[in-house]
Amino acid sequence: MPRRTRNAARRAPGASRAALVARGVAISLVTGLALAATLTACTAPAKNGEAMTGIVPAPISADYPDRAPFTLEQNSRLVAKGEGAAAVAETFGALARVSTGFGLPVVDGADGADAAASDIAFVVAAGEAPDGAAEGYTLESGSDGVRLAADTPAGLFRASQSLRQLLPAAIERTDAAKPPADGWTLPAASVADAPRFAYRGSMLDVARHFFPVEDVLDHIDRIALLKLNVLHLHLTDDQGWRIQIDSWPELTAAGATTSVGGDGGGFYTKDDYRRIVEYAAERFVTVVPEVDLPGHTNAALHAYPELNCDGVAPKPYEGMEVGFSSLCASPERAEATDRFLADVTRELAEMTPGPWLHVGGDESLATPQADYLDLVRRITAAGAATGKTLIGWHEMGASRELPAGTVGQYWSYVEPQEDAAELTTSFVEQGGSVILSPADVAYLDMKYPDDPDGPLGSKLGLTWADGPTTLEEAYGWEPTAIVPGLAEADILGVEAPLWTETIAAAPDLEYMVFPRIAAIAEIAWSPAPSASALAEGRPVTDGGARDLDSFHGRLASLGAHLDALGVSYRKVGGVPWVD
Ligand code: ACM
Repeated sequence: MPRRTRNAARRAPGASRAALVARGVAISLVTGLALAATLTACTAPAKNGEAMTGIVPAPISADYPDRAPFTLEQNSRLVAKGEGAAAVAETFGALARVSTGFGLPVVDGADGADAAASDIAFVVAAGEAPDGAAEGYTLESGSDGVRLAADTPAGLFRASQSLRQLLPAAIERTDAAKPPADGWTLPAASVADAPRFAYRGSMLDVARHFFPVEDVLDHIDRIALLKLNVLHLHLTDDQGWRIQIDSWPELTAAGATTSVGGDGGGFYTKDDYRRIVEYAAERFVTVVPEVDLPGHTNAALHAYPELNCDGVAPKPYEGMEVGFSSLCASPERAEATDRFLADVTRELAEMTPGPWLHVGGDESLATPQADYLDLVRRITAAGAATGKTLIGWHEMGASRELPAGTVGQYWSYVEPQEDAAELTTSFVEQGGSVILSPADVAYLDMKYPDDPDGPLGSKLGLTWADGPTTLEEAYGWEPTAIVPGLAEADILGVEAPLWTETIAAAPDLEYMVFPRIAAIAEIAWSPAPSASALAEGRPVTDGGARDLDSFHGRLASLGAHLDALGVSYRKVGGVPWVD
């Protein structure tokens, strides 16, 4: 097999990806307001020669009345009121000062500073968000000023990302920008918004190829713009171990020097990792670290002979196929293996403030099933002892001894292959929940169909998950219609993984991730399609919550922001990109 095996997700011959059958799942919408989702196109008129203005992901409601706009000026202030508001205002100010050249001081609204018509008010107070939703917010703008308001700092931060998208794209520039012809204007707008799912993730595989801290920080800023709130770092695999573990130093000394194709290695020191976590936290993004166990462990087995059943360290591995490595279940290796599991999960948990620890569990094709179940029991016991909630790829659902609340991450297809659906519902039956990452629509390393280097000729991307994958396919699926029996409340969220067999540098990463991640962000954040659309298996409907024309138009506006940020995204067909 030429590439990653991923046998479990293999398609049945002739199976069609198109059929999206909503299996009579009752759709429970998160908020009352969501029920009243305006189903408008959510776009404001074109301004400044730019694309139509609009917000991605689509808000619950966005109204752009035909009134005078707000203008950010030299003397504008960021007036912060309520706990945590000043920090959010400061994060916005740090971005906008660079491009506008304005001072944009953050002032304390509680000290009697009332927001003036040229100011932006950042307010945290009870009762501001629609239905009090934790990440919900409102945004009001016009010639009398801008007011962002939420019940929590996280909600206020999400509001500031809508603000960012509604301002001229040049606001993103990391150097002083020429002011737009009409000034730094924001259309008159009235937005009420809250997320559908609590967990909205992006995964970076930094094991097959390593990405320096700066690349990860850039990625965090860009996913935050899309209101994603989780960065899952796939830190270990056969090809490399990328995180410092003090009690097992050879993991990085010997296990971090390789990557796919001999492209060199790298790892994050604990200080590097803390920098990532802190930068993410400023953007209300939670880092989920993954150590992939018990398979995908060649780098660790190479670093420590005592983890191998035969006591012999395998050679380092720089290929793409997987499914050949495994921790050893035998009693002779139990002391070393259990010490390794306890130390690695403890050190990882200690440097991770977020609630989750991902322990892998996928594609352990070289582990006999009895050994797999024994190892999963020991891995999850070690992980649970850290106090974190565990996440595992759906194969871990084979275990009926999962710690309370363990979350399953589904990576089969829109049409579940083999026993993927049963393995996934096993997490729910054991009191946990599910993250959906159907590989044929949510894996961002699948090729684009019409690559400019010729039909599938680019060196970037793979096709094994029924690729190539279009933007519209990434947009056209519904989380409640994948695994039979899974209700909205069972779904913690949605995540788009980027595996990096073929992706070795930041521009390649950006090309594969954008714009398809915007489709996944909209599925994760925006209101659910109507029950009738879902009953007909059509989550994407004209004028509905997920309207393709509206998405394309808003994406063009987002594209102008990505241009200003210097992101090398793929300008896929069908979107009215602005040159
Ligand atoms: C996976 O793609 N093996 C999770």
